[in-house]
Amino acid sequence: MSLSKKPYKGTRDFFPKDKRALDYIFSVMRKTAFEFGYESYDGPLLEEVDLYRAKSGEELINDQIYNFLDRGNREVAIRPEMTPTVARMVALIHREEAKPIRWFSIPNLMRYEKPQKGRLREHWQFNCDIFGAPEGHGELEILTLVIKLLKNFGANETQFEILINDRRVVDYIIKEKMNLDEERSYKLYKIIDKSKKVSPEALEKMVDELNLDQDAKNVFNKYLAVSSFGDMLHLLKSEGAPQERIEDLVSFSEKLDKLELIKYFRYDPTIVRGLDYYTGMVFEVYDKHPDNRRAISGGGSYSDLLKIFNEAPMPGVGFGLGDVTLKDFLEIHKLLPNFETPENDIFITYQTEKAEIEAIKLANSLREKGLRVVIHFGELKFKKIFGLAEKKGAQWVALMGEDEFNQQKVQIKNLSTRDQKEFSLSDIDSIYSNLK
Ligand code: HAM
Repeated sequence: MSLSKKPYKGTRDFFPKDKRALDYIFSVMRKTAFEFGYESYDGPLLEEVDLYRAKSGEELINDQIYNFLDRGNREVAIRPEMTPTVARMVALIHREEAKPIRWFSIPNLMRYEKPQKGRLREHWQFNCDIFGAPEGHGELEILTLVIKLLKNFGANETQFEILINDRRVVDYIIKEKMNLDEERSYKLYKIIDKSKKVSPEALEKMVDELNLDQDAKNVFNKYLAVSSFGDMLHLLKSEGAPQERIEDLVSFSEKLDKLELIKYFRYDPTIVRGLDYYTGMVFEVYDKHPDNRRAISGGGSYSDLLKIFNEAPMPGVGFGLGDVTLKDFLEIHKLLPNFETPENDIFITYQTEKAEIEAIKLANSLREKGLRVVIHFGELKFKKIFGLAEKKGAQWVALMGEDEFNQQKVQIKNLSTRDQKEFSLSDIDSIYSNLK
């Protein structure tokens, strides 16, 4: 029997050029998190399934989780998301920590999905979460951070937008104005969450199954027609919403305006998020490119997640942004640098076997200076040198033929200008300054 060379369905091998792209993506994520004072953390790959059962929602538990019984009969799962883990970790230490707690992580996660564009079974997800920030402040910071992240990749408001909503507003409409009980509210949330992915007929059919009365249907249709902060305010006022709901929305949109961030946002009533723990603001970052209209990131605020560990409620706000959707976004907007070749400083070659030890010594001395040095083993014919050096991504080539060896010299050639200079092998400082 011969084994398949392909990776497991929906997972990826990262060959060096793919890994260079991923490392670059991670480096921008880390840089951005540090710009905002977020500290790096990580958790285990496996958690007990109950951690997700508590608040992650039926889709994740019923369809997506990779779970199994361990040898001690515990039901465990490969982490499908990071939020329950971070909440668990914060619940362990929050009493000793100054608030707010600002943490980030880039875990690999697994979900049993039908692999397709933007959706795989394993992905890496940048998570930033803030705990214990005063009302509204954490939300604003998390949104500012996600915008800065995309700007740090070179993106602007013509390329992405943030679709935003608030579960307190949705709750008011569904529970207070449509008078739905908990069960039908939950179902309607799931229908709204799916609404963009299904046809208008399919949406109507799903809503019909809830047997709404005519008044409720009217309110729901008005709600779905909202497409701006202004529309939402208008609807809340006309439906007699509490002053607090209205003021929150006004002050939030005013802050976005004053910070010149409003251009990134659009109020979207269909954004409610599939995960059950969100209680306030919810958002998704969307690619604006017509050929890639999909969410790159999603997040929101969750005030009660620590309660599942019998802790007092502490507000959390955060987002997750996956490497798969981000890479698609960067590629379609031509924002991803070329990672075809590695990056090295110098490719050291010798044209006579006798120079082997000199070549290794030179390489080691330059490495001591912090340069990235690749050495070619064995004699290398002159005509092959430059092609190989380019494949190694080197800027410079060192050449040592019979004459150079006899005189203890080395030729250093710049691959782009083709300038060549001769140096004494003992004069490492001059060689190094020439390379810089
Ligand atoms: P989520 O919306 O399930 O949220 O995932 C966030 C992002 O992760 C998505 O927008 C997408 O970029 C990426 N993602 C999710 N599933 C897949 C997949 N199967 N293949 C590729 N990419 C995927 C959460 O996971 C929340 N825990 C985020 C969060 C953090 N909320 C608060 N803090």
